[in-house]
Amino acid sequence: MKILIIYDSVYGNTEKIAFAVGEAIGPEATVKKVSEAKVKDLEDIGLLILGTPTHGGRPTPAMQDFLKMIPDGELKNAKVAAFDTRFNEKKASAFLRLLAKILNFAAPRIARNLKIKGVEMAIEPEGFIVEGKEGPLKQGEMERAEEWAKKLRN
Ligand SMILES: Cc1cc2nc3c(=O)[nH]c(=O)nc-3n(C[C@H](O)[C@H](O)[C@H](O)COP(=O)(O)O)c2cc1C
Repeated sequence: MKILIIYDSVYGNTEKIAFAVGEAIGPEATVKKVSEAKVKDLEDIGLLILGTPTHGGRPTPAMQDFLKMIPDGELKNAKVAAFDTRFNEKKASAFLRLLAKILNFAAPRIARNLKIKGVEMAIEPEGFIVEGKEGPLKQGEMERAEEWAKKLRN
């Protein structure tokens, strides 16, 4: 089965999660940065996992552009899942927490965008926490990512 993990990352945290997810899925998984991914890569895909940092409640512009290019029905036979990285709400100011409530996070937005294209997500979108803008990842998030990914293996 063709398995692809397409991610974007500015400071490297989402990239680390993407590779942890790839490891947990197994050797058939290919991990690719969104800037190198093409819609053609999605042909005959069995499992697609999209991962992006949350920027202003949304996926990065490169990930948004990629999502826009996916034709309706393209993923009808694929399992699809999405994750994001996001700031640590527990350590954020009240203002940022309020903003996050309003803006939401990138992975649920990916799920919403794909639903419009007829895609039903295989599992709930998940968010992994980074400390501050640049990271590092909160302790335990790599392990949590592996557990999340294992749900997609069967
Ligand atoms: C321009 C910008 C906007 C951001 N907006 C949000 C946001 O709306 N919500 C949030 O949880 N984190 C936000 N963050 C923090 C990012 O989620 C964090 O930088 C990212 O998870 C780190 O992942 P990366 O190392 O893969 O780039 C923002 C960061 C940047 C640089």
